[in-house]
Amino acid sequence: MAHKFNIKSKSKLDNEWRRENLQSEATLLSLGLTPEDSMADIGCGIGYFTIPAAQIVNNQVFALDTSEEMLEEVNQRMVAAGLANVTTLKTDEYDLKIPIESVSFALLALVLHEIDDKKRMITEIHRILKPEGRIAVIEWIKEDTEMGPPCAHRIGKEDVDALFTAEKFERIDSKKIATVFYGSIFRVKA
Ligand SMILES: C[S@@+](CC[C@H](N)C(=O)[O-])C[C@H]1O[C@@H](n2cnc3c(N)ncnc32)[C@H](O)[C@@H]1O
Repeated sequence: MAHKFNIKSKSKLDNEWRRENLQSEATLLSLGLTPEDSMADIGCGIGYFTIPAAQIVNNQVFALDTSEEMLEEVNQRMVAAGLANVTTLKTDEYDLKIPIESVSFALLALVLHEIDDKKRMITEIHRILKPEGRIAVIEWIKEDTEMGPPCAHRIGKEDVDALFTAEKFERIDSKKIATVFYGSIFRVKA
């Protein structure tokens, strides 16, 4: 069974190291998020990416997580930032709860390695994306590094590519993010 992030460690999702090595706004822009997009932050955690995403886009952002506790923190951050375009929603493991073709851009940041049935999740992501919508996946490189989960719990870039391209997506870009992360962007095939 995949290893799940411990909610008690939520302070690890926003700290000095992360702000230096995984800058939220710069990462979102480099992965291709634009003001014209509507967005779903799948497994949003405390909203580390949700809040800057809502400041970039002119449309709706869905903050989706299976944990109420995480979503409560997103709500607090959203109010503190004075944002009116974020909707938080408690989801089920393979049910993102938003209608078909809801968003043009989805983010799956440090979540895919926690999902047991990855194919099922990717099918669900395909359902919520608009035609030619994009999904950006951020993951730890598959090596042992000082920070992050053990190598055995990580998923490599080639495996992510294989999973998405087998499910009606094409890869449009990939990025190295700092020294320990990579980002891969896929688009729903026309
Ligand atoms: C390591 S945290 C990453 C949080 C956030 N994406 C970030 O990078 O700051 C993983 C998050 O994914 C959520 N999660 C795990 N499985 C999920 C699923 N099937 N659907 C939605 N959220 C999920 C967890 O509750 C947790 O908040």
